[in-house]
Amino acid sequence: MTQRRLFVTTALPYANGNFHIGHIMEYIQADIWVRFQRMQGNEVHFVCADDAHGAPIMIAAEKAGITPQAFVANIAAGRKPYLDGFHIAFDNWHSTDGPENHALAQDIYRGLRDQGLIATKTIEQFFDPEKNMFLPDRFIKGDCPKCGAKDQYGDSCEVCGSVYAPTELHNPYSALSGATPVMKTSEHYFFKLSDPRCVAFLEEWTAAPGHLQTEVLNKIKEWFAVAEDGSGGLSDWDISRDAPYFGIEIPDAPGKYFYVWLDAPIGYLASLKNYFDKTGRDFDAFMADPQTEQHHFIGKDITYFHTLFWPAMLHFSGRKTPNAVHVHGFLTVSGEKMSKSRGTGLDPLKYLDLGMNPDWLRYYIAAKLNGRNEDVDFNAEDFMARVNSDLVGKYINIASRTAGFISKRFDGVLGQVSADGVALLQQLEQALAPLTVLYETRDYARALREVMAQTDRVNEYVAMHKPWELVKQAGAEARLHDVCTTSLEAFRLLTIALKPVMPALTDGVETFLSVPPLVFGDLHTRMGADHTIGAYKHLMQRVDPAQLDALFVAPEPSTPDTPAVLPGGEAIAPTIAIDDFAKLDLRVALIVNCEAVDGSTKLLRLTLDVGEGVTRNVFSGIASAYTPADLIGKHTLMVANLAPRKMKFGVSEGMVLAGSHADEKGTPGIYILTAWPGAQPGMRVR
Ligand code: 2FM
Ligand code: ZN
Repeated sequence: MTQRRLFVTTALPYANGNFHIGHIMEYIQADIWVRFQRMQGNEVHFVCADDAHGAPIMIAAEKAGITPQAFVANIAAGRKPYLDGFHIAFDNWHSTDGPENHALAQDIYRGLRDQGLIATKTIEQFFDPEKNMFLPDRFIKGDCPKCGAKDQYGDSCEVCGSVYAPTELHNPYSALSGATPVMKTSEHYFFKLSDPRCVAFLEEWTAAPGHLQTEVLNKIKEWFAVAEDGSGGLSDWDISRDAPYFGIEIPDAPGKYFYVWLDAPIGYLASLKNYFDKTGRDFDAFMADPQTEQHHFIGKDITYFHTLFWPAMLHFSGRKTPNAVHVHGFLTVSGEKMSKSRGTGLDPLKYLDLGMNPDWLRYYIAAKLNGRNEDVDFNAEDFMARVNSDLVGKYINIASRTAGFISKRFDGVLGQVSADGVALLQQLEQALAPLTVLYETRDYARALREVMAQTDRVNEYVAMHKPWELVKQAGAEARLHDVCTTSLEAFRLLTIALKPVMPALTDGVETFLSVPPLVFGDLHTRMGADHTIGAYKHLMQRVDPAQLDALFVAPEPSTPDTPAVLPGGEAIAPTIAIDDFAKLDLRVALIVNCEAVDGSTKLLRLTLDVGEGVTRNVFSGIASAYTPADLIGKHTLMVANLAPRKMKFGVSEGMVLAGSHADEKGTPGIYILTAWPGAQPGMRVR
């Protein structure tokens, strides 16, 4: 068989939060496929990246008081424990804000423009006159036009469920500034997906064998359908956003940026290019090679982008189109749907922190994935049953019941396999070889069912020959050697079939059996008599129900039932985790200058040194308690990473800390905090 050259990606996660279990499921699905391909001797390049751009990330960064670049870098820095923890072996992790993506996106755009597939149109949109920006739908709120519910988003009502355009909201306001938005026109750039060339190409591409799952193609056919009244069919796609926007500039269009979804999939190519450049490979040659196969793993919610926009963008800019887009369903936890931003109750890092084995989750998820885009449910009891009875109780059991005899009685050396053993191994070999087809088509569920059926057969063999009795029988030494050797040979064959799913476990097995890294071709070989195995160490623990209880323990309620009320009337705020506290950057600040604020009886303007080389301007509502002379030259404490706030008298770049009761005007007043002698400006308070 000739070696295949594969370029494999998973969807690029938005860089606005940590991974949730839905991301991990997708990565596990793709990682199993990649490991399988590598076991087949194929060349695989498996990459991902942060999806960095767009208004939500820009706004979140502004709220955090940092640049979007810094915001994205912070999120990216948190990726590794998840990926390493679940043995997800991406070859490269990049960002759609990298230089490669800027260049590639602009290049692809120019290609589309040269084809006459870019048009401009003037559209009307809500504009925030205070923030000076066009508002994305999610940042416009108001009263539902149908039921009148207050504070509903610009696209749909959470109370009555109706869907509408933001312009239909009553009393609309900007969720960013609270200002009333005004209608404003702007010129937008469109990708002409409705162009007959695009439609013809996509009808052919989507229907070509191998590109899409049948159920996905059927859905897409609905999108192509044009009704008798002319409605339906593919519409042109708005690919531009106006400044301010965190994104990639559109060539020859000052102040216009690509909509995040235009440059996001190009990030697949950018990450591969970044990886190839780093490792001395030729990206252009690889992508120009007709042998190269391009595979994307995605969730069903982003099918439209990946099966219509993306192949069309690639094709009409003269590039290779994907060989397949593999669509999976959503992950529910105990039947509960996941929120895209918050995930579900199953926190992947908590899973790892509890010492739960990543291979358990990989096995469980694999056992539920069948290559179609159906939803998958994580159910704690089912999880425990599958791991404890299938994996540990059946598969591991084969080794744990036989390895000790080989070590103790035969110095770790395998013996001859007699006729019944040979028959068993041949039967296993025949049953497991076709699993390559199931892995290829991502029907891991069926592959694992077959492995477990074969595991049952091997256990029947062990149970029938009872090595623990043979060891007590005089003259049964040779048979004991034969039975235990057969069992371990069988165990090795089963391990080959499980290897793409459980890399850490199978690593342990390879060490224990003292064999080189297993590949599918090894189904047709045996360790053989005289092979010396290593010492058996227990390969896998059972799931402890206490771990599952801890994993799903309900989070602390955000408001205690009976809040402790303290003198002054203010209750202690809900408990936070240490990580929440760590988000606050508190610093020792020297009050370099302080002055009254013209036109305000409440505020003082402080000039603070927090060791940055430049001073900060901070307004503080402490004029009722202090005069400038009280404060100049003193040290205080400030929140240094608070987003700058525009106030009537100027921008405030932080906040100084003071103690007071909720009503700070009354007795006993307000007290600014200070540091003990010796504290230096810029020291972090922790
Ligand atoms: O839906 C999402 O989470 C997007 N960030 C996926 C992008 S996939 C690719 F196009 F980058
Ligand atoms: Zn409503």
